[in-house]
Amino acid sequence: MIATHPAGQAFDAMADTYDDDFTQSHIGRAQRSVVMQDAFRILHGRRRLLELNCGTGEDALRFAENGWKVLALDASERMIACARVRRETAGTKENPQFRQVATEDLREIAGEFDGVFSNFSGLNCVRDLAPVARILAEKTSPDSPLLLCLSTRICLWETAWYLLHGNPAKAFRRWSGRHEAMLQGMPVDVYYPTLNTLRTAFLPHFRLRRVRAIGLFVPPSYAEAWIQKHPLLLRMFVRLDAVFSRLPLLRVLGDHMLLHFEKSGEAV
Ligand SMILES: C[S@@+](CC[C@H](N)C(=O)[O-])C[C@H]1O[C@@H](n2cnc3c(N)ncnc32)[C@H](O)[C@@H]1O
Repeated sequence: MIATHPAGQAFDAMADTYDDDFTQSHIGRAQRSVVMQDAFRILHGRRRLLELNCGTGEDALRFAENGWKVLALDASERMIACARVRRETAGTKENPQFRQVATEDLREIAGEFDGVFSNFSGLNCVRDLAPVARILAEKTSPDSPLLLCLSTRICLWETAWYLLHGNPAKAFRRWSGRHEAMLQGMPVDVYYPTLNTLRTAFLPHFRLRRVRAIGLFVPPSYAEAWIQKHPLLLRMFVRLDAVFSRLPLLRVLGDHMLLHFEKSGEAV
């Protein structure tokens, strides 16, 4: 029997509503579309893809539909169950392969991969990413790209939003680098590493090539009800993100940051 990771248990309780709450939301779609545009470009020509913290399988299914062979992992039993149902609904049986494996237990998976993908903050639930980087280096072919989307340490939107709503504790919750979040009443430790911490954790195996903000002007998902009343504003924010998301300071001040690493070729 698989011992369920604490974050996996907490996400179990969110799995059945996750797609309605986030995947299908205006904000979720706007943020995901930017990640996936970069993913398709950067992972082009790579065949065997490893996805970490895949959730309900939205991205894994898109990769599989577009020719990638995908092994997609998540700590949550319920998220993996939802992903398998989606795969059946899509009419495919074996690709993507979904498995309940926590990122901390990566060593137990077999196979070699040409690229690694992680979307929307699953890696923020891992306390130390240096051992994860080491195992990924063992399991990837030379020059493999890693495309990782994590929550930032400082999100300008979040700070402004919660200050305006009179909630300073939430406004600054990320700033210390660690926060105990309550997910459906269950506590989960969430870590907010800085860009430099991440760069160091992945060295010497992976070299950081590019970084961009995801959700710099596009707000975090808790602003969904507000943004639904302002569709033109959302369109404008999407355009502003396209212009400003790669600028040196701004790229780490969005809701998420998207990091593109490449295997450095040094001995593992
Ligand atoms: C915000 S969801 C993102 C899901 C998906 N990647 C997406 O783009 O919609 C975060 C996911 O990370 C998973 N997760 C959290 N901690 C994890 C861990 N230590 N190992 C593996 N998965 C984890 C959760 O179960 C959840 O499915």
